[in-house]
Amino acid sequence: MPNNTTIRFPNDVHHPEVKSWIQSIVDLCEPSDIRFCDGSREEYDTLCAEMVRQGTFKALNPKLRPNSYLAWSDPSDVARVEDRTFICSRSKIDAGPTNNWVDPSEMKKTLGNLFKGCMRGRTMYVVPFSMGPVGSRLSKIGIEISDSPYVVVNMRTMTRMGRAVWNALGQDGEFVRCVHSVGAPLAQGQKDVPWPCNKDTKYIVHYPEERAIWSYGSGYGGNALLGKKCFALRIASAMGRDQGWLAEHMLILKVESPAKEKTYITAAFPSACGKTNLAMLVPPKEMEGWKISTLGDDIAWLRPAEDGRLYAINPEAGFFGVAPGTSKKTNPNAMKTIEANTIFTNVALTPDGDVWWEGMTDTPPAKLTDWQGQPWTPDCGRKAAHPNARFTAPANQCPVIDEDWENPAGVPVSAIIFGGRRATTLPLVVQSFNWNFGVYLAATIGSETTAAAVGKVGEVRRDPFAMLPFCGYHMGAYFNHWLQMGRGLTNAPRIFCVNWFRKDDGGKFLWPGFGDNMRVLKWVVERVQGKTSAVESPLGWMPQYADLDWRGLDFSAKNFNNIMAVDREEWKQEMLGHEELFQKLYDHLPREFGNMRELLLSGLWRSPERWEMLPERHAEEN
Ligand code: GTP
Ligand code: SPV
Ligand code: MN
Repeated sequence: MPNNTTIRFPNDVHHPEVKSWIQSIVDLCEPSDIRFCDGSREEYDTLCAEMVRQGTFKALNPKLRPNSYLAWSDPSDVARVEDRTFICSRSKIDAGPTNNWVDPSEMKKTLGNLFKGCMRGRTMYVVPFSMGPVGSRLSKIGIEISDSPYVVVNMRTMTRMGRAVWNALGQDGEFVRCVHSVGAPLAQGQKDVPWPCNKDTKYIVHYPEERAIWSYGSGYGGNALLGKKCFALRIASAMGRDQGWLAEHMLILKVESPAKEKTYITAAFPSACGKTNLAMLVPPKEMEGWKISTLGDDIAWLRPAEDGRLYAINPEAGFFGVAPGTSKKTNPNAMKTIEANTIFTNVALTPDGDVWWEGMTDTPPAKLTDWQGQPWTPDCGRKAAHPNARFTAPANQCPVIDEDWENPAGVPVSAIIFGGRRATTLPLVVQSFNWNFGVYLAATIGSETTAAAVGKVGEVRRDPFAMLPFCGYHMGAYFNHWLQMGRGLTNAPRIFCVNWFRKDDGGKFLWPGFGDNMRVLKWVVERVQGKTSAVESPLGWMPQYADLDWRGLDFSAKNFNNIMAVDREEWKQEMLGHEELFQKLYDHLPREFGNMRELLLSGLWRSPERWEMLPERHAEEN
């Protein structure tokens, strides 16, 4: 497409600013062709077929996995790149010390050079999308311009994408500008590779004031599907600060009790720490009448309403879930969700054209092709799937999708749960004394790092609100925004912390997890309803052994004590971690936090060195 070619816009595009913006990106990136995406099934099928021809996709066996595809990425492009992610607010202070910052004008120069001609030899796709149901008052529109057909088909599953969005946008609607390139232009006649990306240079850049995103060099997940982390968390969190709402790294679920009472809960855990699993949980069969349905597995937008409550919508339309560890045992609903119409990335291929990953079955297949295209056998010493391998599947294929998951008004939230992956220190569950203390607990959450981001795995780092990589402004200002939100809620959700990952001295998980997490959810629901008791611990309100429903699980009071105990020495260490975070955020740290810290310390010192559940309870059980 020669420079300054006049673009033929589809009739649906009525927005002069959109048109001139697209024109400017065409002039900069110099694609050889431009395609406006309509979001149709036909378009999706065509793009997938083209990618099969090109080698990006393998079509899976239609008898085993209908209308599904497998992509293997470049081995250098397998997860989010946090050290290449930038919040380029005008002032450095607004990005805060937990984000990378570069002056926006300097960054624009750098990116201007990188994007110049970066789509040569490639097709540019224009993808209009809505985060949230099209037309809902709570939804926001974005337009992603990308040179990756893989991104287009994933965006179709993950967002409401296509023609209807042009109409919702009208002539002057607001939209977030999202520009993405794999950063691999093709010279005349140059043959493409199955997974184009730029091995040396990656930039994931956000301009929060302009509501714009520029992503260069990666085709993977949150780096490239710009509606997800870049828009729905980083840009949206900045919008929420300005407009009085919250964009959070949270699942949304509904608990239905045997009496058919409905309780909506959101839960924030860091990446690869169990949101998808909890969102689709299957309760133990002995807990008859308790039901879970799913509204979202990764992102929630929360807004206060006139009734003084907080309402949640899921801005996404699909699941981009971690494959390894997903099985009929751990998450049967996810396994059903991905039976068809699913894109798999970086999992292994079976000889009969299906997929496999670690943890999918107890016995691995005798032979596979691994995620790097190499022959694989169980004894070869390598992983068959990359630990951050993922599936992309439409949310409406989930067998327990909630009837209100697309309700434009959202659902009223009664409880918010925070958690992390912690081998020690943090108990199975604790309820915060109040909203403000809950904000403190959420702000100081730590978690062992996972394969969802490039870097070391297994180190404890502070991950406030599970938002460390996703907050689009100063983390301290974000804490203040949470406190401020609480002041406006007359019926605020109750706040809880959980940890499914505490281990015994032998390194084994103390808690069975997965479906058994229902026991904790039930206590949470009953606390909200004022139907169950709790004891005061140094950290907050805790259930005693008898307060949890143990039907169908052999779990002794002694074991329970082991996952609930609060150890002062461990907590001294923990609070040094809090202190380190506070020092870093000092210039915006809520003044309440100093008092909260004192409350926590005094609680620890007025308790025994190792705070345990009441001994008489143990006696009853033994
Ligand atoms: P992102 O999509 O990266 O934001 O992550 P997520 O929080 O949705 O992660 P997901 O639910 O896919 O969790 C993936 C990992 O957590 C897998 O390795 C699971 O086996 C493990 N996991 C999930 N729930 C539990 C649990 O209750 N107990 C234990 N021990 N592991 C769990
Ligand atoms: C996460 O890392 O938290 C994800 C996957 O949900 S990604 O979209 O790649 O960020
Ligand atoms: Mn996530």
